[in-house]
Amino acid sequence: MRIGLAYNEKPDGSSGSDAYAEWDDPSTIDAVDQALSLFGDVVRLEADEFLPQKLALAHPDIVFNIAEGLHGPCRESHVPALCEYLNIPYTGSDPLALALTLHKGRTKEILAYRGVPTAPFRVVEMLEDLERMPLPFPLFVKPVAEGSGKGIFVNNLCESPAQLAERVLFLLRRYDQPVLVETYLPGPEFTVAILGNNGDVRCLPIVGFDFATLPAGAPPVYGYEAKWIWDTPQNPLAIFQCPPTGVPDSLCRETERVALDAYRALSCRDWCRIDVRVDRFGVPNVVELNPLPGIIPDPAMNSCFPKAARVAGFSYDELIQEVVRIAWRRITGRTIPAAAAAVSA
Ligand SMILES: Nc1ncnc2c1ncn2[C@@H]1O[C@H](COP(=O)(O)OP(=O)(O)OP(=O)(O)O)[C@@H](O)[C@H]1O
Ligand SMILES: [Mg+2]
Repeated sequence: MRIGLAYNEKPDGSSGSDAYAEWDDPSTIDAVDQALSLFGDVVRLEADEFLPQKLALAHPDIVFNIAEGLHGPCRESHVPALCEYLNIPYTGSDPLALALTLHKGRTKEILAYRGVPTAPFRVVEMLEDLERMPLPFPLFVKPVAEGSGKGIFVNNLCESPAQLAERVLFLLRRYDQPVLVETYLPGPEFTVAILGNNGDVRCLPIVGFDFATLPAGAPPVYGYEAKWIWDTPQNPLAIFQCPPTGVPDSLCRETERVALDAYRALSCRDWCRIDVRVDRFGVPNVVELNPLPGIIPDPAMNSCFPKAARVAGFSYDELIQEVVRIAWRRITGRTIPAAAAAVSA
């Protein structure tokens, strides 16, 4: 069996800017490659402009997709679309789900239609749109189609019309895309790692956030600063609690329920990490879905999906292999061939 590994590698020297925040470090790509080798030969497919030719030539039995994509608001759907074009099976969600979930406004429209709680919002395309803003303060703003903390800074929490206008203008100019303005959710935050398909979908133990670990005075926001500046391998932020302490069981169950509802509403496949925050009424609201979840292998580096998997008893390799098994079962209706799985058993 040949497994393609589709990825985008962070360029050298890109730390300090959020331009490549979504792309993976060489250490993550190496770790995934190593885990996939259980099933056979791994063919690395960097998702650059030569991917179409490389993919057609390699024609692997399945592609493990962690590529965030190169250009535009549909970038996360490009690799799956190419795989479909070449009739190559791949792990994870399809192009439609990946394009929709990268657009937080479109995602929220679907969630709202399906009755999944999500904060009231507007998508703002120009400063003038703020003149008719009906939402009360405080508000939270972010680029409509980014991830990994890109464009999410502590001062995106807006308390006044002047601050809102300043932040919206900054984000419109810097990220060259609409800005999502939504009601600030003041309650606790959780993230839920989900695995599976159809009748067999399960949540891994939910991860809670301890915002008291952020620097004094920082608002309870897990944005760019918390992800990429304050959290270093030398001084890791002990922000995650898995399972969360002191959270009523009923709130944990409700959080899992809205996460599973969101997973189904967006037709996610195989795996996804769903961010949830509690509103002022105590109701867990879906913030966004990550069908290409971060999977940093180093436990010191605070990556939620591998962390939740560890608490559930999966090693890093077992998590990656489980995603392949789930995808293979979805695609073929069968368990991944024993001969392939036996290679390094
Ligand atoms: N409406 C909101 N109310 C309160 N906090 C929010 C809201 N939206 C986002 N946040 C905060 O900002 C953080 C980042 O937001 P979001 O998850 O949308 O960004 P992201 O960059 O796509 O995240 P990821 O790294 O998970 O891809 C959240 O984890 C949360 O702490
Ligand atoms: Mg998030």
